[in-house]
This record gives sequence, C-alpha cells and structure tokens, in this order.
Amino acid sequence: MTALAHRLSPEPEAPRAPPVLFVSGLAKRFGARQILRDVTFEARPGEVTALIGANGTGKSTLLRSIVRLVEPDAGTVTVLDQEVRGLDRKALKAFRSRVGFVFQKHNLVGRLSVLTNVIHGVQARMSGPRTWHHALAPAAIRDEAMACLAAVGLADRALQRADSLSGGQSQRVAIARMLMQRPELVLADEPDASLDPRAGRALMELLYSLAHDKGLALVVISHRIEHTLAFSDRIVGLADGIVTLELDSRVAHAEQLRAFFERPPAETDRDTANHG
Ligand SMILES: Nc1ncnc2c1ncn2[C@@H]1O[C@H](COP(=O)(O)OP(=O)(O)OP(=O)(O)O)[C@@H](O)[C@H]1O
Ligand SMILES: [Mg+2]
Repeated sequence: MTALAHRLSPEPEAPRAPPVLFVSGLAKRFGARQILRDVTFEARPGEVTALIGANGTGKSTLLRSIVRLVEPDAGTVTVLDQEVRGLDRKALKAFRSRVGFVFQKHNLVGRLSVLTNVIHGVQARMSGPRTWHHALAPAAIRDEAMACLAAVGLADRALQRADSLSGGQSQRVAIARMLMQRPELVLADEPDASLDPRAGRALMELLYSLAHDKGLALVVISHRIEHTLAFSDRIVGLADGIVTLELDSRVAHAEQLRAFFERPPAETDRDTANHG
C-alpha cells in the first residue's frame, strides 16, 4: 500500500469478516420473569466471542435461544443470512446440524470406543448404520474422525473405550465429535466448568486455536475471568437482560471484568441511569 493510500484509509485494522451470527433485540420471559430484554450481539468467523455474566443472567438461555431449544419471544437471530426464527421443523433440523454445541457435560457413550463416539458426530449430516460404529464406517468417515481426534491431540486414544478417559480428555473427544459436524458456528456453555485448572485452561486454549485455525465463529461462556481474557477476541457482558459490556479482549483487563461482576444491577441498567 502506498503512503498516501495508507493515510487515506479510514480503518487502520484489517477488515473483519462479516458475522456468522447476528442476534438483535432478543427477548425471553419465563413466567413473570423477563430474563432477556433486548440482547444484540454478533459473532464472526475465526473469532471467539466470550459471553460473561453473573449466575442466572440468562447466558445459557441466550445460547439455547439461538438454536431455538428455547423459543424467544421477540427479536431476530440470523445465522449465515438465514433467519432462524422463521424456519419450519425440517429447516430447523438442517440448521441445527450446522451448529456445534459443547456443554459442561460431554455425554459420550462410555462403553463405545473413542473413535465411534467421534464418528457419531457425522449423524448431524448423514444417517444410517454406517455412522453407528467405527467398524461399519466408510474409510473416508473414519479418516475424517481420525483427523478430528488428531486436532484435539487424542489420535492415539482412538480404540480405547470412552469411559477410560479423564474428564479433560472426554471433553476433547466431545469437541472432536462436534468437529465431525463441520459446523460454522460453535456454542460452548461452560466447557471448562468441571475441569481442573490445568485441563480447563488447555481446553479453552484448544477451542480458541480451533476457532482461529478452522475459521469457526465460537461463542463461549466461562466463569473463569483468566480464561475469558486469554482465550477470546471479544467480550460481551450480559446483565439485566441486555448487553452492558463490549470489549476487545486484547485491551481488556481483569479489573474491568471484576468491576463488571461487582456492579449492582441498577447501575448497569441503561434505563435507570438517570436516577438520583
Ligand atoms: N425452562 C425454564 N423455565 C423457567 N425458568 C428458566 C428456564 N430456564 C432458565 N430459567 C431461569 O432463567 C434464568 C436464567 O437462566 P440461565 O440458565 O440462562 O442463566 P445463566 O446465565 O446461564 O446462569 P449460570 O451462570 O448459573 O449458568 C434463571 O433464573 C433460570 O432459573
Ligand atoms: Mg448457564
């Protein structure tokens, strides 16, 4: 780029890819309790968006609303230019197969091999007995599953029973299974919650590098401030049903996040900012 072009350029940073996920004005009420009021945020490919907030602020509800495991009351959810709230049953099923979920609980089938568990991830995009067990799977699928296992550093465990793995290893197998879906968007709800500090950190690091290497849009919830800071690109803070914090992780620091958690609810609420 010439010096002149550089001076005229309005954006000093490289342009970011357009969002994979765009949530706008999302609202959800359970009985008399308005959990989400007006939530707007986005997630871009190759980036990790960390979603933070106190217990009960609706973070899990928000992730579940994106794939309509919870039906939102208002607002829009757009994933890769598809308006999710308008999808019929069949289209919703196809849409969900493109979204990877990682939970605190990994739900592997303990008596089956690691490789078979990973192959089960392909059931999001194909069906039939050839997806049931590693011995029945076509070579191409077995190879892909082995590549997914290699991506999480567990290729050498392929033929072991899943129930012989540690918690951290099981969680990584669950991620390999999710990669078999070939998802474009990944939603991870406290994937580090039940892991010890070292395994938890390694898992968050793995998710961060997978998002960057494979260009996945990853939204991750973690209650560990140091994980949020180290393994995200953007931080979105939820309080009182709205987004009250948006930070670039490169410039965010632990004090800011602690202050966010310590602020009383009324002060984080834009609508009550004029009291006193
Ligand atoms: N299906 C439901 N029916 C009624 N209330 C619900 C339902 N799901 C969630 N809630 C309530 O909505 C609120 C938000 O729950 P949610 O699980 O989304 O919070 P969270 O931010 O994920 O909390 P945590 O950090 O503890 O996981 C809570 O008060 C919860 O009890
Ligand atoms: Mg939750």
